[in-house]
Amino acid sequence: MNDRIFIEGGHKLKGNVQIQGSKNAALPMMAASLLHRGVSVLKGCPRIADVFCMEEILQNLGAVTWWEDHDLYLDCTKADKTEVPFSFTGRMRSSVILLGALLGRNKKGSLGYPGGCVIGKRPIDMHLLVLESLGARIQEVAGQLSAECERMKGTEFSFPKRSVGATQQGILGAVLAKGETVLENCACEPEISWLCHYLRTMGAQITGDGTGRICVSGVEGLRGGSSWVPPDRIVAGTYICAAAITRSQIVLENPPEGELKAFLEVYRKMGGQYKGNSGKLLVNGKNVQSPVKLLETGVYPGFPTDLQSPVMAVLSTIEGESCIREMVFEDRYKAADQLRKMGARIRVQGNEAVICGVKTLHGAAVQAQELRGGASLILAALGAKGVTVLEGYSFVQRGYEHICQDLNALGAAVKRIQE
Ligand code: UD1
Repeated sequence: MNDRIFIEGGHKLKGNVQIQGSKNAALPMMAASLLHRGVSVLKGCPRIADVFCMEEILQNLGAVTWWEDHDLYLDCTKADKTEVPFSFTGRMRSSVILLGALLGRNKKGSLGYPGGCVIGKRPIDMHLLVLESLGARIQEVAGQLSAECERMKGTEFSFPKRSVGATQQGILGAVLAKGETVLENCACEPEISWLCHYLRTMGAQITGDGTGRICVSGVEGLRGGSSWVPPDRIVAGTYICAAAITRSQIVLENPPEGELKAFLEVYRKMGGQYKGNSGKLLVNGKNVQSPVKLLETGVYPGFPTDLQSPVMAVLSTIEGESCIREMVFEDRYKAADQLRKMGARIRVQGNEAVICGVKTLHGAAVQAQELRGGASLILAALGAKGVTVLEGYSFVQRGYEHICQDLNALGAAVKRIQE
């Protein structure tokens, strides 16, 4: 498989870049489409591996889907199968949010799921708790999660911890339930509001999204949904990091500026400058030179954990000591080992990483092990001296539609290797 790219570092970036649709907004919106037996459309949907995977799952359940440019049509009239095999859930853990939609639609659903992971890292305990609270009976037998219910029933549920996916699960389970549901301690990420916005175009009655308390008034049925997928705040942040690490100036077209506040604050602390102007964001990374004493990730509106490793790449090139504290996921420093191969000085202890910035990184053979860590290696390579060979590019393709083309259009030298 052609899974390698070459990146020649040291080129300045210049020009404009369009921000693709958001992966994390699109996936739950696709799952929500199951709740209507008819056609829904997501406009400006990113054509990325995770979206294709979710599309395949929906097709497997009986949906008919088609694309018109970047508009994804989902005809779920006959999507009446209820089983999502492990071959899919294993590829994309976030497919677990289908369970709430399957229960809402068909009163039963099952997912292939590796037993140990339910309670281990990246658990789904809160997903199951909120569905149980809505009336689902869930069993886990031999790697298979099976859930069934009569019609779901409105409930009051408080999440023990803020979780994006579990909040979405609760909403998807509640929209067709009988009666009112009040969800407390919900996550406030913009992707939750986008899901609710989409569900409202389908006729769902939801209030309070964007706050910790979401109320859903169950309805008897929904109609076809239609919505734009918002621009991807993580992709936008990644491209701002590309400008920062190459000390360049670029313009983002249609950036979700309001959703990037915590990130832009850190970027400003590094010496980055930015200016919003009629729907564009001009970012100037020429003066990026200040270490960041402490960057803590957090739930929205805090600093997004998905931008932690991209920023780590940038901090690796700022002389002085910076510190990152990862507060959302326990094991999110996989990129650090690879960055070290490029000359970065990073010490990881528990959930903290101390970065002693160096003047220049150097090209190396590195391996992407996950999506955002992979993106951070591409960023490091852009700012490094010499050539980097990155293996595992397919991880990056899960979330970035055309990062190589975008960077090349800005003046970078990234090559896909034809094998
Ligand atoms: C989503 C995003 C992911 C992002 C993350 C945090 C999608 C497809 N993915 O993931 O890119 O990094 O939000 O912004 O939108 N947890 C539990 N039990 C649960 C569920 C979660 O303990 O049942 C924990 C997780 O282990 C983690 C924390 O809660 O420590 C937050 O995770 P969560 O917000 O659920 O992340 P995801 O929805 O999986």
